[in-house]
Amino acid sequence: MPVLSRLIPLALLALCASHRSAAQDASEKTISAILAAMSLEEKAGQMTQLTLGALSSREANSENPDGHQLDPVKLRHAIVNKHIGSILNVHNMAFSAEHWHRTLTTIQDLATKETGHKIPILYGIDSVHGANYVREATLFPHNLGLAATCNTQLVEQCHAITARETRAAGIPWNFGPSLDVGRQPLWSRYVETFGEDVHIASMMATAAVRGLQGNSLSSPHSVAATAKHFLAYSFPASGQDRTQSLLPEHYLREHFLPPFLHAVEQNVQAIMVNSSEVNGLPVHANHNVLTKLLRGQMKFKGVVVTDWEDVKKLHNLHRVAPNIKEAVRLSVQAGIDMCMAPNDFHFTNNLIALVREGLVPEEVLNASVRRILRLKFALGLFDNPYPDPDAAGEIGKEDAHALSRQAARESLVLLKNNGVLPLSKESTILLTGPGCHSLTALHGSWSYTWQGTDEAAYPETLDTVLESFNARHGRENVLWARGAQWDGSTDFDYALRKARNADVIVCVLAERPGTETPGNIRDLSMPENQLRLVRRLATGKPLVLVLLENRPRLITKVAGHCHAIIYAGHPGPHGGGALYELLMGQFNPSGRLPFTYPRDPNSLLPYDHKHSDTIGPDKDTPGFNPLYEFGHGLSYTTFKYDKLKVPTEPLNQTDNLNISVDVTNTGPRKGTETVHVFIRDLYATVAPPIKRLRAFSQVELPPGETKTITFSIPVTDLSYFGTKNHLILEPGEFEVMISDQKARIAVQQE
Ligand code: BGC
Repeated sequence: MPVLSRLIPLALLALCASHRSAAQDASEKTISAILAAMSLEEKAGQMTQLTLGALSSREANSENPDGHQLDPVKLRHAIVNKHIGSILNVHNMAFSAEHWHRTLTTIQDLATKETGHKIPILYGIDSVHGANYVREATLFPHNLGLAATCNTQLVEQCHAITARETRAAGIPWNFGPSLDVGRQPLWSRYVETFGEDVHIASMMATAAVRGLQGNSLSSPHSVAATAKHFLAYSFPASGQDRTQSLLPEHYLREHFLPPFLHAVEQNVQAIMVNSSEVNGLPVHANHNVLTKLLRGQMKFKGVVVTDWEDVKKLHNLHRVAPNIKEAVRLSVQAGIDMCMAPNDFHFTNNLIALVREGLVPEEVLNASVRRILRLKFALGLFDNPYPDPDAAGEIGKEDAHALSRQAARESLVLLKNNGVLPLSKESTILLTGPGCHSLTALHGSWSYTWQGTDEAAYPETLDTVLESFNARHGRENVLWARGAQWDGSTDFDYALRKARNADVIVCVLAERPGTETPGNIRDLSMPENQLRLVRRLATGKPLVLVLLENRPRLITKVAGHCHAIIYAGHPGPHGGGALYELLMGQFNPSGRLPFTYPRDPNSLLPYDHKHSDTIGPDKDTPGFNPLYEFGHGLSYTTFKYDKLKVPTEPLNQTDNLNISVDVTNTGPRKGTETVHVFIRDLYATVAPPIKRLRAFSQVELPPGETKTITFSIPVTDLSYFGTKNHLILEPGEFEVMISDQKARIAVQQE
């Protein structure tokens, strides 16, 4: 599907949206009646979101996962006296569905039985890769792994399961998908992105929002989605989370905006704001971004929610407001509807004061509250805000696990294979490295706890890589030695001794999971003790490297020692089994890198860099020289491309660019190939990038078979953001590149 042409039909969509159904008209009337009866305090409360921890007396922990307790006094105060509209989060770690049901029932009882307008609470949660705060739920690979599958249908299905299991716990609102484009590999939330390419991220945005929201928000299988974090959160200049992005507007529009456009086109119900500053301006105070762009140009109609404590931070971190009251004024005037406060009533109290003093018009609150109430209506909360006691059976079903297993298999990327893979069934395998016996390494952040690092928080039913290998290969055929640990310690001698009795060494290097500021790093290299382990194991015996990681940690120093390398990211609960099957050739790998794997610490260019970025120190040293290219991924078969056909006549700007290419499976076994269509503008006013991905498609081929793959790309997708920051399409020549095939096309002046 086209990327940039998607900008055009938005106006059309807005028109369609104005044809509301009778049910919507009825709810609009009810909303108007409620709004008219609401006091100023109730409106400010409705716009306030608190975290569950602030309303609880005891948190859950791994000894007592359902030991969490609500604090009845705090809860009553927040809901009945302060009229809060929303609650978020878990308290420390995942609850069972039963505990969620109890908690939500108590909350909704208070809201709908003991408040004047009986407005249900809108509960929101981070179901980042599955319903990761529900103990029985099915987790999936993180988004980066899903992007590696190149399978949009699968991504939609995974998100549909996430919705089903989140809603079954009684929670109707998800803070996802993350639509930040991953163009800064140091960033601690890289694995939460769909990678560096805007086209893939946009296609995945569509799939994710569709999967989460389904056909009807009030369905017991749907949740409201939140596209986050608007805008350009993922490009911190320093690489550290929540630090400023500095980027020209045309670059911002080209690379960071489109996934959000696609989400809005899918009627995403909420947008969460970027916590940091873009070009010096904190986004939470930026009217141009939150109102002019988001509501004016993009026609977003839903709820804008802040990120964690970010209104306060306009004062105490970004220092654009001399006090918290001014911070509240700035954020509301900029366009936020709901403040993730999340611990106190600074937002509520100051907002009330600002309206009383005439500094914020009450109409601003009316518009926000109307949006919040609309969302509650659309989710069916006014009809029934309670969890369905029978829905717990919807969580962790076999179809969900089958999908997670498929996603894990398709997410693995075979980066290198010198012929050692697949392994023989008879081989004795040594598993080593910090990732081989760790659930946290397989799952990454946002897994049962925020950081995902509490091994005791994981259900006992889950298998580590070692346990998966033992179960499939026979315990007697699998040896293991930790080799290196996250605390920096090593035991190379023991690993080497074990290696003597093995036919093959599988070294599972792993980044210790982390997200947001706890996940910040200052060195992209894989920790030194892990690299040393690989070097020590390089004795000539087949050495397979597996990478469990949040971002592309540099492995250049050891890649040459390895006979095979697999990028696995954080593949989730079925990652261990999927790795085993890949190594044994039980399926044919098809994952493709959705990012550029860097070779050098200070050369972090994406694939769609500029021609001038290719300048190196001398003619033999390219300026762009990654370890593995974006889109790279090997298979156990081979594919050949042939007969690329493109239009020979010049195209008009309103035409479609119709392309066909033959793909043949020239190897020994069935395989799935992703066909990437790159296009390069030969000359443009703003120096054009080397190439841009404009379409992709997957094809499964038995050995010896050829298929003709066709694409129809709107010529408008060849446009780019010009110096005036809007899309322009300059006539001229373009080059179409599919694998080793190349052809020129021309676009003429209308
Ligand atoms: C994160 C958001 C998340 C929110 C609620 C913030 O710290 O940046 O992505 O949705 O917390 O948990």
